[in-house]
Amino acid sequence: MLDLVVIGAGPGGYVAAIRAAQLGMRVACIEKADALGGTCLRIGCIPSKALLDSSELYREARERFAAHGIRADVSLDLSTMMRRKDQVVTGLTSGVSMLFKKNGVEHVRGSARIEAAGVVEVVRAGSRQRLEARHLLIATGSAPATLPGFDVDGTHVVTSTEALAFDGVPSRLLVIGAGAVGLELGSVWARLGSDVHVVEMLDRVAAGFDADLATALQRSLERQGLTFRLSATAKGATVRDDRVEVTLDAGGQTSTEDFDRVLVAVGRRPFTDDLGLEALGVARDARGRVEIDARFQTSVPGIYAIGDVIRGPMLAHKAQEEGIACVELLAGQAGHVNYQAIPNVIYTSPELASVGWTDAEARAAGHEVRIGTFPFLANGRARALGERDGRVKIVADARTDRVLGVHVLGPRASELIAEATLAIEFSASAEDIARIAHAHPTLAEAVREAALAVDGRSIHQ
Ligand code: NAI
Repeated sequence: MLDLVVIGAGPGGYVAAIRAAQLGMRVACIEKADALGGTCLRIGCIPSKALLDSSELYREARERFAAHGIRADVSLDLSTMMRRKDQVVTGLTSGVSMLFKKNGVEHVRGSARIEAAGVVEVVRAGSRQRLEARHLLIATGSAPATLPGFDVDGTHVVTSTEALAFDGVPSRLLVIGAGAVGLELGSVWARLGSDVHVVEMLDRVAAGFDADLATALQRSLERQGLTFRLSATAKGATVRDDRVEVTLDAGGQTSTEDFDRVLVAVGRRPFTDDLGLEALGVARDARGRVEIDARFQTSVPGIYAIGDVIRGPMLAHKAQEEGIACVELLAGQAGHVNYQAIPNVIYTSPELASVGWTDAEARAAGHEVRIGTFPFLANGRARALGERDGRVKIVADARTDRVLGVHVLGPRASELIAEATLAIEFSASAEDIARIAHAHPTLAEAVREAALAVDGRSIHQ
């Protein structure tokens, strides 16, 4: 009998399996896809970052090399770019297999169905296998949400999966939804030459992030050629002769437009199909998310759940934290997730990153706040890089000076946010950050300057 069976080998599941093995448990991890790593490694975070980096190099070579005094004759070889992306993915997914072997995690191939607490049936190519374990962990992630009126055919109307693997650059691409997927993949294809239009139901892009920085990001992306239609929805699509005719609605005014491809990026839904949860009576909320208690246990004792199938942001690193905390609790340790210190990043250019509360959220939670901002325009390293867009914004409690939130729009914001996350995790004050030496010249100095600005004593603005 195993100690733990993890269902799903995405970032939540595989990390939980490895941590459980480190803690001395006998662990198996069931995965139905050929490769390990889940959405993140196979068809999400990793391939999108590979294409974002490649497409950004292409844009820089075409538009920015000249300013550096570099002359280049640049052309696009999309199939090589895609092959490189696939190699990046394969390298990492096979790395997870190696980690399983190293840690003694048994990799079971097939689709899992939970028969009862402690019993899982795994089906693969007609054959069946039964696994028994003291604990079961559901880490089955999420799938793209569908949109009424849009029949995803994988060719003309697509999800992020297919938009990571177009075999040509669409001349006109419609993106529905200005969230992380829409902005990242919209950026990739705009950089590679598509005329990208983004339709967003809300009156802003990047919902959930600081509103000012989101608007500044929108302006940057507009300068890169993306067109935004806010407070607008897409009503339906008809495919005709390799073109997609889309009905758009903005403020009650409908229009019909033609696109080559349509990317539906309107969110994701928890994926629990065919797991057998109804029969077991595992409670789920109105949005289909598995309900859990403080120890990640579902309504059925012995069955646990983490990651995109439960409440909270659908982020790989959030799932990893939960996976580790869940199995540490099972092992009698003090596993814990600090949800205030989960960073969130959109990997556009500039990048948008955030941790903790926005000033609006902090005020709504009853804090009087002080805000410090610092623009990358005034940062030496950003200027040397040729990056002028964006700024750092720190939200601190007015009475205690404790950092409540940090928001960064700028080059490598995804890396800069780590310092801010550390500050929040350690309950730092803005003064703490302001008194730390930051190497000069670095982008990170902008974080320190924003911390100084909380107290009105920024040096370089
Ligand atoms: P999202 O929830 O981030 O954004 C979806 C957007 O679509 C929202 O702004 C929403 O208002 C809009 N929308 C919904 N219905 C619409 C309609 N009918 N017409 C027009 N707009 C509509 O979802 P997204 O971008 O699909 O990403 C899915 C999940 O994956 C998210 O939880 C996201 O955080 C995560 N993700 C994270 C990434 C990262 O961390 N960099 C990258 C990609 C995805």
